[in-house]
Amino acid sequence: MWKGRFTQQTADLVQRYGESISYDWRLFPHDIAGSIAHARAQMHADLLTEDEFSQIETGLREIQREIEAGEFEFSTELEDIHMNIEAALTQKIGPAGAKLHTARSRNDQVATDTRLYCRSAIDSILSLSTELQKALLSQAEHHAATILPGYTHLQRGQPVTAGHHLLAYVEMLGRDKQRLRDCRKRLNVCPLGSGALAGSTINLDRSAIAQELGFDGISTNSMDAIADRDYIAELLFVLSLLGAHLSRFSEDLILWCSTEFGFATLSDKHTTGSSLMPQKKNPDVCELTRGKTGRLVGNLIALLTALKGLPLTYNRDLQEDKEPLFDSVETLTLALEVNAEMISSMGLNIENCRKAAQDPLLLATDLADYLVRKGVPFRDAHDLVGKAVASAEEQNITLDALDLSLISEKFGDDTEAVFNLEGALKARSNPGSPSLENVLGEIQRWKAELA
Ligand code: ARG
Repeated sequence: MWKGRFTQQTADLVQRYGESISYDWRLFPHDIAGSIAHARAQMHADLLTEDEFSQIETGLREIQREIEAGEFEFSTELEDIHMNIEAALTQKIGPAGAKLHTARSRNDQVATDTRLYCRSAIDSILSLSTELQKALLSQAEHHAATILPGYTHLQRGQPVTAGHHLLAYVEMLGRDKQRLRDCRKRLNVCPLGSGALAGSTINLDRSAIAQELGFDGISTNSMDAIADRDYIAELLFVLSLLGAHLSRFSEDLILWCSTEFGFATLSDKHTTGSSLMPQKKNPDVCELTRGKTGRLVGNLIALLTALKGLPLTYNRDLQEDKEPLFDSVETLTLALEVNAEMISSMGLNIENCRKAAQDPLLLATDLADYLVRKGVPFRDAHDLVGKAVASAEEQNITLDALDLSLISEKFGDDTEAVFNLEGALKARSNPGSPSLENVLGEIQRWKAELA
């Protein structure tokens, strides 16, 4: 399609090196939609007759059906999806097909296709993220009152509830979704009409094309529109972060499923066995999610690295934007689906969770707060409780069994209430804290938001 000035065939190795059809075939529905919108604008500009336009439209829709049915034969010789489709069209309908590329370049075409691909990927990842949030939410509701230890430094810190813990991930996913919507807004701009880099001497109605393709507007600088891939980088960042959130949740689950913790059980359907050790039930899905997150981050770095040294405008390096994009979208799509399913069927062992939170040491902070309420400055209260902890440890007794009056006369005979787990949670009633009432309130708020 560009061989006019060449007298030699492209070397086989160069063809293999440069083809992108083996992966950019995924752009076909967007490429076809873009071509139909472009052809319609050509017709309105009297560059095509109505009949020619309708031949192009019918031909392209036929090609779309053939690709969907797996009947289309992609050719590496034609490099990419754009040339594969255009060549097939011209073969089908003859001269009208050869007019389609007027006032267009593969450069504005590929920028349009990838924006449309990102947009539809975002829409689907948004709805999969909502499904995952719903799965977490329903477990959070089931376990709103299930007490377990909250950790810092992976050391037991203070009591929380499983509901509160799970809702933390609902929040993270909520912000990931905001970032996705934000990214969608910024990328929903149509580059068609930017040509190879400097627009075109043939004017088509760019706004009409943009509108037909569901874009919010048109790009305002042809060089920028051709050269930048910031919208892909932004999406890859958002997907990496979403992956990082899933990965942290995976890590929690891996710990929770260990015999050492014994908090959670995953269904047989979502675990795997060992070919050697018959007793094993492994949380492979969680480990894979954690592992695949490395790929998501790698894809972001690959693109940023490819972009950083490029002079304006198009350089073939930009073809390297697609594999990271497709890989991240497809990897995360599956991760969201499998995690939602796995979480829905996960069970929590309420007794084990409670047992782990039972140690009165988890309420040492509450004991310091008790002293604060008696007028002791917090730093002094912290120090007194620290001494109490050391003394209990020394005597090999639990903190609540210690005679606290020996540590300080500030401790009254009313400390017993401090060591009541339910009471301790109830007292955490400030907005954002894990009292049952708060957690139930948050669950209702999220239910309404996700409905
Ligand atoms: N397959 C190419 C890519 O993905 C399409 C654009 C080709 N443009 C060019 N000037 N060779 O980047």
